[in-house]
Amino acid sequence: MTRSETTAPWPTEGLSFGGDYSPEQWSWDVVLEDMELMRRAGVNLVTLGVFSWVVHEPRDGEFDFSWLDRMLDLLHENGIRVDLATPTAAVPMWLHEAHPEILPHDIHGHPLAPGGRLGWCASSPVFRSYALRIVERLAEHVAGHPAVRLWHVSNELGGGNARCHCAVSNARFREWVAAKYGDVQTLNAAWGMAFWGNSYSSFDEVTTPWGITAHNPGQLLDYERFSSDELLAHYRAEREVLQRVTPDVPITTNFMVGIGTDIVDYTRWADEMDIVANDHYTVGPDPLKHEDIAFSGDRMRGMSKGAPWMLMEHAAGAGSWHPVNQPKTPDEIIRHALAHVARGSDSVLFFQWRASISGTEQFHSAMVPHAGADSVVYRTIVDLGAKLTALAEVQGSRVEPARVALLHDNEAGWALRSGLKPQNPQRYADTARALHNALFQRAVTVDVIGPWTALDGYALVVVPGLFLLSDENARAIEEFVESGGTTIVTWFSGIVDENNTVRPGGYPGILRSVVGTSSEEFFPLDAEQSVALSNGWTGRRWMERMRPVDSPEGAESVADYAEGGYRGGPAVVRRRLGAGVAWYLSTDLDTASLDDLMGRVLSETGVRPAAEVAPGVEAVRRTAPDADYLFLLNHTGETGWARTRGVDLLTGREHADRVVLDPGAVAVIREERP
Ligand code: GAL
Repeated sequence: MTRSETTAPWPTEGLSFGGDYSPEQWSWDVVLEDMELMRRAGVNLVTLGVFSWVVHEPRDGEFDFSWLDRMLDLLHENGIRVDLATPTAAVPMWLHEAHPEILPHDIHGHPLAPGGRLGWCASSPVFRSYALRIVERLAEHVAGHPAVRLWHVSNELGGGNARCHCAVSNARFREWVAAKYGDVQTLNAAWGMAFWGNSYSSFDEVTTPWGITAHNPGQLLDYERFSSDELLAHYRAEREVLQRVTPDVPITTNFMVGIGTDIVDYTRWADEMDIVANDHYTVGPDPLKHEDIAFSGDRMRGMSKGAPWMLMEHAAGAGSWHPVNQPKTPDEIIRHALAHVARGSDSVLFFQWRASISGTEQFHSAMVPHAGADSVVYRTIVDLGAKLTALAEVQGSRVEPARVALLHDNEAGWALRSGLKPQNPQRYADTARALHNALFQRAVTVDVIGPWTALDGYALVVVPGLFLLSDENARAIEEFVESGGTTIVTWFSGIVDENNTVRPGGYPGILRSVVGTSSEEFFPLDAEQSVALSNGWTGRRWMERMRPVDSPEGAESVADYAEGGYRGGPAVVRRRLGAGVAWYLSTDLDTASLDDLMGRVLSETGVRPAAEVAPGVEAVRRTAPDADYLFLLNHTGETGWARTRGVDLLTGREHADRVVLDPGAVAVIREERP
């Protein structure tokens, strides 16, 4: 992987620590107490003004930045830097009143109600002009203020306004489709509109896929692309103003990279950010929360091309948007925060500094809970701040180059959910996470990257459920294997092209020539069903009627189906291709089977873990020109260990060749270089 240098100056010296700060919700005496508590905790960066449009512009065209000036000066006096938000996530009520047409319209064509946030359609020129006016006035006003170190464009673009079906969106969608396809015959062919006789005779007949009907998978996929493009256009419009007025301040927006398919195409957006930033929230019932942190961190690092990225938000405890919202233990607060740093984040930021007492999120956790500073959570925050200070030298280092890449593409996830499939619903990231987890459990570092990224330097490329794949990206996988690499391709990869059209001739479609075999039928399994394989492995979720493996292709069946309708047929196939090896998994191996397979693949490819560790201990190494930092995180309730030599930056203790980790503990070892 080619790693580009980051050019954006990091907003703080050392790692950034802090969170969303909403002083407009509090009286001045509370704000003064905040300064004292922030200093005590070592906070050095806050995100300010995310929802402050009506504070800056209380009435149409009347601007008042006195509150902001006071806050910026106060934060600056206290040595706290500011990630200043453009306030466009929070439409003032006067704007809703004057222009109700800016509201996003749902799938039935009904406007959402004013209130909440992101109450605007990304295609609305009316909203855009009001938004750019406040952005410009704000930027002009703060230009040159020493506290302002980063621009935070809006908030989680798409989180509430990702899809709109208003008249303006429909008109823009028609333009977008016409620009992409040129003529209506090409559009009909791309979307396969001959099915059910839905062909268009003019672009005027094209609509967004609104209402209740069975929309065409090609149309649904393009609508997802269009919606992502419209939000990106909004980001670019704000960025253009900010770059013009404050050219020295880097610009970002907060992504929502976590479980599931992304709402917009972050991997393709990433190059538009000076620093890529993520909001990450673990989901209560997820048994592998720590693996989810690792998976999203590995994705963020793929997006930043190895450069440090920013954890913009996470929670100090419970969220309030799950059915049951449980807090974190102090160990978890520390471990989860440092797990992001281990994977390349140079910040630990929270939503939010002080828990709100009113409003939608009045029961969301914060760095200062409702109970105040005399609380376990705040004391843990102080402890975390001290730990981050001890880790200051880690800032700017990079996670060591990974030998394993995992290909992940939002378009594949969108294609998967666009239209009916053999199994409904199917969550795109599930297979990716299972394969990632098999590597995570073995302490192997993985880059999660778009399938268009160069594959040089990797020994193993994992292709989990990559439903949509272009000819060009499939060819790159083939060339990678031919020249000596190993790939693991799973079921339901390579199935459709960029138009969401099935590639005929057998599965896995465009990857048949890589895996050297194919199947002709899918047999999805219920959640309770599984299938025994001939070598003792177990498959779940999916089976395929594989063609017998023929040796001219150099393929061998490593495991056959041992029961069910496909009994005796190949289930897991391995073949040599050129100087490399391709594996095909036609079923979803359970955790133990996948672990067994991964053990074999890693030993064949010579890929080593970041360190020798006890089971359940996460290990990732960050490196700088003059030091290596091994992050060790014990996610178990047992004592763990890792083999390395050096000093633990968190305790100052020297370790001769082995680090013992208490249950739930973290160590960051500056390793002795031989
Ligand atoms: C984020 C959002 C924050 C807050 C947080 C609660 O998605 O950006 O403003 O709502 O979730 O978990």
